Amino acid sequence: MPSLPCKLGGACDIEKWEMGNGKWEIGVRMEEKLKQVAQWIIASKSLVVFGGAGLSTESGIPDFRSPGGVWDRYDPEDFYFQKFISSEASREKYWQMATEMYEPMKKAQPNPAHLAIAELERLGKLDCVVTQNIDGLHHKAGNSEERIIELHGTAMHVTCLNCKKRYDRDEIQGRLRKGTKVPYCDDCGGPLKPATISFGQSMPERETEEAYRRSSTCDLFIVIGSSLVVQPAASMPLVAKRNGAKLVIINRDSTPYDDMADIVIHGQAGSTMANILESVKKGLAPSP
Ligand code: APR
Repeated sequence: MPSLPCKLGGACDIEKWEMGNGKWEIGVRMEEKLKQVAQWIIASKSLVVFGGAGLSTESGIPDFRSPGGVWDRYDPEDFYFQKFISSEASREKYWQMATEMYEPMKKAQPNPAHLAIAELERLGKLDCVVTQNIDGLHHKAGNSEERIIELHGTAMHVTCLNCKKRYDRDEIQGRLRKGTKVPYCDDCGGPLKPATISFGQSMPERETEEAYRRSSTCDLFIVIGSSLVVQPAASMPLVAKRNGAKLVIINRDSTPYDDMADIVIHGQAGSTMANILESVKKGLAPSP
């Protein structure tokens, strides 16, 4: 096994941490890293957590690019916004996929990573969570609305692309169950679409500006469960690092930004964040 030079980061195999049989093996380096991240959170004046689909896989929602992920089953080309607005057939295909993705999301519950982020807010240690996820699990975990920035929208409601009328997602799913192939707006007849941002669709202006602003002014930026390959979201860690923040990446697989991170943890989001939270709480506890 190659032993790569590690600077408290990089893929050093002694940090392998969950052995998959429920047993734990914490290498010295991993323990140091977890403690260091906790100390940085305690010292931080402005922490931004940046989340991707990997943050929700332990809640039963598949991610996009891992084996068995969404893009293993569907061709992303079929879901470009331009296709959606171009034909009835594309809209029907889109709604079939969206319905399959929505079912696990609707049932999903926050996992220890979501709960840790909500707890960091209660401890006054979180500026905001910038998420690429559309599953609404940060709301379910208890983060307050104003500290959640949904860069790629949400699957929890539906919008008319024409008059912007908003519909409850379950109501629209009900119409699909009753045989509707493609739902249209009751008011203007325009096409309805989950309030998510598809490839080729304009990013939400307020959320994108706010995410950039907070990324450029934070002192600690923690990425959890993202492959960091989809722009413009994936440029946020860069913005934070370039503006002097410490960058931590917690992801099961390597990302293109691992080398510029101050700490990289290749591990499970849930167990890693639960461990870090425990150390933060210990560190914040008033000394007897
Ligand atoms: N713990 C830690 N990391 C995990 C876990 C886990 N339990 N499960 C998966 N991962 C990691 C994977 O190794 C992968 O690198 O999370 C990453 C998820 O990457 P993607 O599937 O590419 O998801 P994301 O980065 O959120 O995708 C960005 O692409 O398809 C679009 O709009 C979609 O918002 C999405 C965007």
